[in-house]
Amino acid sequence: MSSASKAGSQIHRPVLLINIGQLLTLRQPNEHGGPRRGRELRELGLIEDAAVLCQGGKVVFVGKSRDALRDPRKKQLKQVIEIDCKSQVVLPGFVDSHTHPAFICPRLGDFEQRISGATYEEIAQAGGGIRSSVEAVRQASRTELSEMILAGFKQMNEQGTTTVEAKSGYGLTVESELKSLAAIRDAAANWPGTVVSTLLGAHAVPREYQGRSSSYVDLVCTEMIPQAARQKLVQFVDVFTDRGAFSVKDTETIFQAAADSGLGVRAHVCQLSEIALEPLLRFDPASFDHLDHVHDQDIAKLARGNTIATLVPGANYFLGLEKFPPARKLIDAGVPVALATDYNPGSSPTPSMPFVLSLACTQMKMLPAEAIVAATINGAWALRLEKRKGSIEAGKDADLAVFEVEDYRELPYWFASSRCAFTVLNGWVMTNASSTEVK
Ligand code: NIG
Ligand code: FE
Repeated sequence: MSSASKAGSQIHRPVLLINIGQLLTLRQPNEHGGPRRGRELRELGLIEDAAVLCQGGKVVFVGKSRDALRDPRKKQLKQVIEIDCKSQVVLPGFVDSHTHPAFICPRLGDFEQRISGATYEEIAQAGGGIRSSVEAVRQASRTELSEMILAGFKQMNEQGTTTVEAKSGYGLTVESELKSLAAIRDAAANWPGTVVSTLLGAHAVPREYQGRSSSYVDLVCTEMIPQAARQKLVQFVDVFTDRGAFSVKDTETIFQAAADSGLGVRAHVCQLSEIALEPLLRFDPASFDHLDHVHDQDIAKLARGNTIATLVPGANYFLGLEKFPPARKLIDAGVPVALATDYNPGSSPTPSMPFVLSLACTQMKMLPAEAIVAATINGAWALRLEKRKGSIEAGKDADLAVFEVEDYRELPYWFASSRCAFTVLNGWVMTNASSTEVK
C-alpha cells in the first residue's frame, strides 16, 4: 500500500483469515500471568493450518481452519471478508514500544560527521544532536507535525506494526511539547492502529536553559507534565537519564511530578554510561530502555520486577557501535525483555520491526522466537496494554500481521526485506502487497 492511500484500502467488516500455515498466537504459557522471561520467551503458541475470526475489532475465534469453517458464528456473520493466507505466517501485529516520530527533518549532517569518526556525544556537544532538531519543530504547525507523524505510523505499519508508543521531545518548550503531543493525537485519529503517547520534555536541556538545567526540570515538572495530564494528551512521562542529559536526581523529581499527575513513567537509561537504576525503581517504571551499560546488580533487581527492559539495537547499528545491549545476559538472568525501533532522526531512523528482530538475532544472539515474543507480548507489557495487545486470543484486539513466508524464522532471516503482506488493525484490514487477495 502506498503510504498516501490509506482510506482506499480499508474495509470494516468481520474478517476470517484461513489456511494460515503457522499461526503464532503468543497465548499465555505461564500460570503467574506476568511478562515473559527466561524460557517463556521461546513460547510462540504455534498452531498449524490455522484460522482467526475477528468481529467488531476483536478476535472471536482462534483454532484450526477446518473448525473455523464449521463455526456457527461464521455462518451467522454477514459479509465476512474471507482471506486465504496461502500457508503463510500470521502473528500478532508488532508493538513498537519506543518511538520518537514528532520531528521534521532528518539529521544528515550528524550522519556524515559520524561516518567521518565523530561520536554521538561529540556531535551533540558541538551543537548537533537532539538540540539541532528543535528549531524546525518549534517553527512547524501542528498540522505539519501530524503529517510527519502519520507518515511514520504508516511506514511502521507497512512492516507489520499495529501499536506504537510515540514520544514528544523535540520541542522543549511548554507550547512545542504540547503541540507535539496534540499532533501525535491528530495522527493517531487518522490511523486505525493504536497509539500510546509519552511526554519526553526531559530529552535535552534546550539552549536557552544552558547552565540552568534545574530551572528546566522545574518547567517540565510544574508546567509541561500537569498541562499534558490535564489535557489528557499522555499516558507516560519519559526522561533521557544519562551522561550529558538528565541526572538520576532530576529523573526522580520528574517521576514524582508524573506520579502526582497520575501518569506512568519510563526512562532512557544506560545508553552512554552506567546509571544507577535502584533509586528509580520505587516509581514502578513501565520500562527502562537501551540498557547498554546496565550494572550486574541492577540486572538482578530487574529480574525480580515487572519493569520491561526495552532493547533498541537499531540505535547501536546506526551509530556504528561495536557493542549491542546485553540481551543474553538479561534474558538468562530472568529480566523481561522487549524490542523496539527507537524510530528517531538522530540515532535510529528505521520504522522496521523486522529489521530490529534481525539485529536482535545476529548481534544480540536472541533466538527468532525470543525476538518475536519481545516484539509483541512483552512490548504490550511495556505499554501496560498486555490485556488488549500482543497475542492472538479470543477477546483481545484484532491486531494481526501476515507475512509472505512459510516459517516464522524467516522474519529475522530475510533482513532489510519487506515481507509483510497485510495487517489487521483493530479489525481494519490494511493491505500492503498486490499479491494478497481480499475477497
Ligand atoms: O533513544 N537517547 C535519546 N534519545 C534518542 C535519540 C534522539 C536523537 O538523537 O534525536 C534515542 O537514541
Ligand atoms: Fe529513544
